[in-house]
Amino acid sequence: MAGGLPWSFYRGQWSALPPAPEGDYLKGKIVVITGATSGLGLEASKQFAEASPEQLIFAVRSVEAGEKLLEQIQKTHPGLKGNVMYLDLMDLQSIKDFSEAIKVFDRVDILINNAGINPSFDKRPYQSTKDGYERVFQTNVLSPFLTTLLLLPLLKKSIDPKVIFTGSEVHHIAPSHLIESSIDNGQSILRAYNDEEKYFNPTRYFESKLLLQMLTRNLIKALPDITIINVNPGLAMTNLGREFNRKLSLSGMVGILWLVVNARTASKGARNLTSATAWQGGSQDYWSGCVPAASENVFLYSGKGYTATQVFYDEMLKEVEKISPGCTADLQ
Ligand SMILES: NC(=O)c1ccc[n+]([C@@H]2O[C@H](COP(=O)([O-])OP(=O)(O)OC[C@H]3O[C@@H](n4cnc5c(N)ncnc54)[C@H](OP(=O)(O)O)[C@@H]3O)[C@@H](O)[C@H]2O)c1
Repeated sequence: MAGGLPWSFYRGQWSALPPAPEGDYLKGKIVVITGATSGLGLEASKQFAEASPEQLIFAVRSVEAGEKLLEQIQKTHPGLKGNVMYLDLMDLQSIKDFSEAIKVFDRVDILINNAGINPSFDKRPYQSTKDGYERVFQTNVLSPFLTTLLLLPLLKKSIDPKVIFTGSEVHHIAPSHLIESSIDNGQSILRAYNDEEKYFNPTRYFESKLLLQMLTRNLIKALPDITIINVNPGLAMTNLGREFNRKLSLSGMVGILWLVVNARTASKGARNLTSATAWQGGSQDYWSGCVPAASENVFLYSGKGYTATQVFYDEMLKEVEKISPGCTADLQ
């Protein structure tokens, strides 16, 4: 390990990525991407435009920014059909409204759950959404899960449906003690992550990506007819650090230097999303370096990890049924 991250992280960051997928791999496909207005989502959207989608739909919290982006991409791809729709992952009603509004299309072929937040690695207070969940948990875990379930009826109308989750290799180093103590004490994992007293901001981002990894594994089993991939884009230069402390300090400067030395461009990071989208080899619970990969999170492979993966999924199913009754009906 170096600086908390495994050596494989540095190896991955410094290795050349395979070339971006080429050709019209999105021909005839209706593609929905969340968080298209910045970073990886923005770069992936530009790359998708090259692949001749039937429709490229930006599901974004700033419709104005989405429309500007669409206009910009259409200048270089005049034939591109696109659409901008409102979606705020910190507002569950907006996800429900989005899942109704998108029914103007007769199907969705590809859903890319890309939007996410990083609350920094400093000690910061718990913040709740208006729905009553911890905000990182809602944005990075609950909302992509709910969005996927609410879009299932449209995805099931596709002949080759696909769902991408934007995970991260930081799930390798996510602490699992909250999950483990919940299992040991017969308590809810979901409640633990929404308990203000148990909140620890410095590791919350890592943990959100571990929980997303756990959900992906269950969804792959529950949806055998849909290709589901949890993609690690690798460290990339985006606006994900927008909440980081900007005060000039030695540790801050070391952090920036580390980022500049190790991060990929957003365009290269997005290549992980586009390569997974073009992939024809079935579901993958982890994708890294533009190829299928294996998680290095030891906890996930332990007996307790297997139990927790199932327990958390069952809890989440009950939770989303409360939010939107009937939304789990299409799962096996
Ligand atoms: N960059 C990396 O090194 C890295 C590494 C591993 C994984 N990831 C993951 O990659 C994904 C994209 O992140 P990024 O690096 O591209 O960061 P980014 O530049 O900050 O982009 C994040 C996108 O998510 C959107 N978003 C945030 N909260 C939202 C909400 N409540 N509702 C709807 N959209 C929301 C943002 O919308 P606005 O444009 O309106 O702000 C933005 O478009 C995230 O899931 C992140 O965890 C990134």
